[in-house]
Order: sequence, then C-alpha cells, then structure tokens
Amino acid sequence: MKVLVALLLLVQLLSCKVVPFDPFQPLHPRFLDCDDPESEEAAAIAVDYINAHHHHGYKYALNSIEKIKVLRRRPTGEIFDLELDLLETVCHIVNPLPVENCTVRPLTHHVSV
Ligand SMILES: *[C@@H]1O[C@H](CO)[C@@H](O)[C@H](O)[C@H]1NC(C)=O
Repeated sequence: MKVLVALLLLVQLLSCKVVPFDPFQPLHPRFLDCDDPESEEAAAIAVDYINAHHHHGYKYALNSIEKIKVLRRRPTGEIFDLELDLLETVCHIVNPLPVENCTVRPLTHHVSV
C-alpha cells in the first residue's frame, strides 16, 4: 500500500545580498527609495543573476525590495547592496519560459508520493 506523504512547501523568503567584492574603501553610501526606478532596475538585474546562477529548484520572482544601499567606489562606479524578498515560481530552473510568465507557487502545496 502506498504511503501518502504530505509535503509542505513553504514559499521561500530569501534575503539575498548582492555585494561584489570591493578592494577599495566605499565612500559615502547613497540611499535610494525601494520604489525608485533605479532600485527596480537593479533588483531586476539581481533576480536575473540569481536565476542564472542557481542550478536546481525553481526560478524566483521578485516580491519586494527590502533594502537598497548604493556604495560609491573609487575610481568610478557604484555597488548596489540589495536585500530582496523573493518568491518561488512553478517554473523549474531549466524551464525556458521567462520568469515573468511563471506563476508564483501557492503558499502551501500538498504533494502525494
Ligand atoms: C509571456 O507572456 C506575455 C504576456 O502575457 C506573452 O505576450 C508572451 O508571449 C509570453 N511568452 C511566452 C514565452 O510564453
């Protein structure tokens, strides 16, 4: 007789900090609003990066931007320090569908094995 196992898959709330190595001392940070278009653009790039660099499980969609800080670096450029709230979608990482077309997993999901 088959044993039914109910798995509870909770939506993962990941806090991803994207902080590239900086050999220079950061100068004064600049603070952006989380709904600033520049923040949204940086977050979209970060989510693409995360989806391109994890090789198992499901693609993530951006839920919200928790924190954003922009560090200036010498001689030029800026580092975006982002804290993002991500939701797992139903699209497996090998699914060619763009993440915009993937629905977010329901909060609880029962799986029969
Ligand atoms: C993704 O969704 C958009 C808007 O609904 C649609 O135009 C597009 O064809 C879809 N792309 C794929 C690959 O399904």
